[in-house]
Amino acid sequence: MSMTVPPLGIFDELSAARDVATLMRLATERLRAAGVPSPVADAEILIGLVLNGTRGQVQAWVISGREVSSYEAAQIAAFVLRRAGREPLQYITGVAAFRGIELSVGPGVFIPRPETETLVDAALDLLPMGGRILDLGTGSGAIALSVASERPDSEVVAVEASAVAFTWAKQNLRHLALGNVHIVHGDFADPSTYATIEGGPVDVVVTNPPYVPSWAIPRDPEVWLHDPELALYSGQDGLDAIRQIAAVARPLVNPGGSLLIEHGEDQGESVREVLSSAGWQNPQTAADLTGRDRVTSARR
Ligand SMILES: C[S@@+](CC[C@H](N)C(=O)[O-])C[C@H]1O[C@@H](n2cnc3c(N)ncnc32)[C@H](O)[C@@H]1O
Repeated sequence: MSMTVPPLGIFDELSAARDVATLMRLATERLRAAGVPSPVADAEILIGLVLNGTRGQVQAWVISGREVSSYEAAQIAAFVLRRAGREPLQYITGVAAFRGIELSVGPGVFIPRPETETLVDAALDLLPMGGRILDLGTGSGAIALSVASERPDSEVVAVEASAVAFTWAKQNLRHLALGNVHIVHGDFADPSTYATIEGGPVDVVVTNPPYVPSWAIPRDPEVWLHDPELALYSGQDGLDAIRQIAAVARPLVNPGGSLLIEHGEDQGESVREVLSSAGWQNPQTAADLTGRDRVTSARR
């Protein structure tokens, strides 16, 4: 009687590897098969995470034939499997880079996106010296904390409804040790949220709110499987949060002050209409680095 040996699962195969070159080959193959857009880079980062090395060091270890222990190989196998399930790389590494700062992130908080860096540029341009700025839906604190670190003269207030995201934002604030940020746990649509904020109206309100229509399925599995729903979806046309913010933010801004909103590339015209109807002046839409409509601003 002949016996067939069952094929090793990918976890077993990766765990059985005893050198970085084999791990790199198997991890890259697995990530590519799962449709991960940058399988080589992600494999290098995950191996480096366990072996405590940079991507350059991992590349050097492939050539030098560095060996790994069974414990290290099993840890790498577990990370590769998570990434192959399209869990965002940043949830696995625990960090996300945004402008000049590094933010701790994990399940339950929206991972800051490179396109939001454009929104921060626009906010910094509008913020007077010694000015005050309010970030609505701060998530990990990306916008609020980068503004505060790049403009130590400013005073920053941030609002977040999700208890999980609020905890990440507070942790990031603590790590960055910024003295000019106040983070409030509350609903940005509820005027009473602002009752506890001292100092009166601000010069700029900035927000990257949820703006995906409730029926839409985002393209990347990382987004629809792992980003928190509260961070993504906002009613039938995706504009519910923007309508709420347009209404609630006006009395919070000094006359002549600004509102800046990130939105979807096909929402510029609708957002300008929402802002005009809510009494905001001169709404204008600007494109992001890829030329897509991304940020609409208006004056009080
Ligand atoms: C698209 S994410 C942006 C997060 C962060 N500003 C960034 O750019 O990385 C939207 C954020 O708004 C928060 N949010 C949604 N509705 C909210 C509400 N009614 N009040 C306060 N925060 C809200 C979500 O929890 C999420 O953190």
